[in-house]
Amino acid sequence: MRAVLTTSVAVAAVIGLSACGFGEQGITVSENEPEYRGAELFAANCSGCHTLSAAGAEGTGNQSARVQGPNLDERKETVKSALFAIENGGYSGAIMPQNIVVGDEAQEVADFVAKYSGSEAGDE
Ligand code: HEC
Repeated sequence: MRAVLTTSVAVAAVIGLSACGFGEQGITVSENEPEYRGAELFAANCSGCHTLSAAGAEGTGNQSARVQGPNLDERKETVKSALFAIENGGYSGAIMPQNIVVGDEAQEVADFVAKYSGSEAGDE
C-alpha cells in the first residue's frame, strides 16, 4: 500500500514540473531586432538552466536543482562576460558546459544576453 502511494506522488510531481514549460515560447524580442536570433539560440541552448525573460526562459523551474545557473534577469552581463561564460562554462567551469554555442552563434547569444540581461537588477 505504501509503495502505491509513493508512486502516485512521484507521478504528480513529474506532471507538475512539465507544466512549468520552458522553451521557445515567450521570446519578447521582436523578430526585426538583430538580437532575435540570439534570443532563439538562448531559448534553445541556455534556458534549461538560466532564467532570462526576454528569451521566455525560466530555468529548470526547479530552483533547487544544482545545475541551475544565475538568473540573468537579475544579473547584468556585458558581451565580454557572456562570451567568457560561454567559452569557459561559466566562471567556475564546474557546472555549465563549455562552448554550447560557438563562433557566430556564441557572438549572437552574447549580444542578446548583454542587451537583455539585468532587466530586474538595480542600478550598479
Ligand atoms: C547545465 C546548465 C547550464 C547551461 C545549459 C548553461 N548555463 Fe550558464 N551557468 C550555469 C551555472 C551553474 C552557472 C554559475 C556557475 C559558474 O559561473 O560556473 C552559469 C553561469 C553563467 C554566466 C555567468 C553569470 C554570472 O554573472 O555569474 C553566464 C553569462 C551564463 N552562464 C550564460 C549562459 C549562456 C549564454 C548559456 C547558453 C549558451 C548557458 N549559460 C548555458 C549553468 C548553465
